This record gives sequence, structure tokens and C-alpha cells, in this order.
Amino acid sequence: MEKREKLYEGKAKVLFATDDPDLVIQYFKDDATAFNGEKKGTIADKGVVNNLMSCRLMQLLQRVGLPNHFVKPLGGREQLVRRVEIVPVEVVVRNYSAGSLVRRLGRPEGEQLARPLVEFYYKSDALGDPLVTVDHIELFGWAEDDELEQIVETTHRINDVLLTVFAQIDIQLVDYKLEFGRLTADRGVIVLADEISPDTCRLWDIHTGQKLDKDRFRLDLGGAAEAYQEVARRMGLAVER
Ligand code: TMP
Repeated sequence: MEKREKLYEGKAKVLFATDDPDLVIQYFKDDATAFNGEKKGTIADKGVVNNLMSCRLMQLLQRVGLPNHFVKPLGGREQLVRRVEIVPVEVVVRNYSAGSLVRRLGRPEGEQLARPLVEFYYKSDALGDPLVTVDHIELFGWAEDDELEQIVETTHRINDVLLTVFAQIDIQLVDYKLEFGRLTADRGVIVLADEISPDTCRLWDIHTGQKLDKDRFRLDLGGAAEAYQEVARRMGLAVER
């Protein structure tokens, strides 16, 4: 497998082509942004931790029958993934209230929700990723009805797995963001894509409530790199520097 040209550079990742048109390399940067790119910085070795953690969680999801884009780790900040056309909808799952749920709807932070809440945001930096409904998604053709149905069902199954995985390492999975894509090699079959990491999840220590995720950077709490390392340590991941 040969690494070829850069296909796309986002805020936290870069995608490179390979000699196989259906496989791409996903490179994780140490760069961090918040508030739609207004706040910028870096978190030391974040790319390594996020890559390792995403590899581990995607593998685990595959093992329990939840298909995703992951193919294999390539070491350091890189992993090989199947090429997808990303559905332009971010799926946010909330188990406890935090972040924009607190800000927008005034819910008390940390309140356990009676059931997982699934929200959709239209992926558009220009518009600041606005909250949308199922009707917007179907009306504007961002996903077909059957695709969306599959995305929601899969999301609930992913949530059950992730809640357990994090609970085992004394971490409360507060909320997180998922992205799905259509496999270019497989007639547009929908799979989980992107990443699952402390950039895209809120992870709180079960005992102390300490935030072990990107909120440390967003809210200037300090110790972001150490928090990411702590999650990696609890997951038994060896972070090479
Ligand atoms: P929110 O509370 O700011 O709406 O975020 C919900 C979850 O989604 C939280 O775990 C962080 C994650 N998230 C992203 O991964 N990317 C984003 O651009 C935003 C706004 C949130």
C-alpha cells in the first residue's frame, strides 16, 4: 500500500489517497480548534492518542457487528480506512446534559437523561453546524429515509457498547459526536466513519467528575494533554512519543 496525494485537510485530520481508490489514510493532527475554528491551539501528542483510541474503539465495534470504515492501524498518527462519502450530518448522542444542551435549553449540567438523546447538526462550517431535524435532512436530501433510519438504529447500538466500554474504566460517557459515510466500494452501504476520541466525546471521571476531554481546551481548564494521556492509559493504550 502506497501513500499518495493529500485529498483533504480538516481542522483535526488530513486524508491521503493510496494506490487503492477505495482506501485512504487518515492522519490525526495535534491541532485543536473550538467554537467553529475561532479558538486555535495544539494539544501535545493528541494525534497519537486520538489515532490509537479511534483504532481501538472502531475495532471493538466491528467485533460486535457494528460496521465502520476502519481497516488497520499504520502507527503514529495514521490509520488506513475505507473511503466513504460523508453524510453531511453530525449525529450527537447525549447520555447526560452538558455543553450546548445546558447553554441552549438551560438543563442542569450533569443531569442524567431518562434515555439517550440523539440530535442532528448540518455539517457546514460557514453556517456553524446548525441543529436540524429529521425533516430538514430528508427534505434537503442529505440522507435518504432508510439511511437515516439505519443511522439512528446503529447509533443506539454504538451507544450501548461505548457506555459499557467507558464505564469499565471509570469514565462517564456524557455525550459525543458521530459521522457516517457511504462506502465508495460497496454500493453506498452506510458505515460509521470519522473518529471516536476525546476530541469528539465528553468523558468525565466517574468518581471526581474531572473532565478528560477537549473541554479542557475549549474552556481553558489546562491539562488537556494530560487528560488525553489519562484516557489512553485507562484504555491500556501505549502512546509512543
Ligand atoms: P455540544 O454540547 O457542543 O453540542 O457538543 C456535543 C458533543 O459533540 C460533545 O461531545 C463534543 C462533540 N462535538 C464535536 O465533536 N464537534 C463539534 O464541532 C461540536 C460542536 C461538538
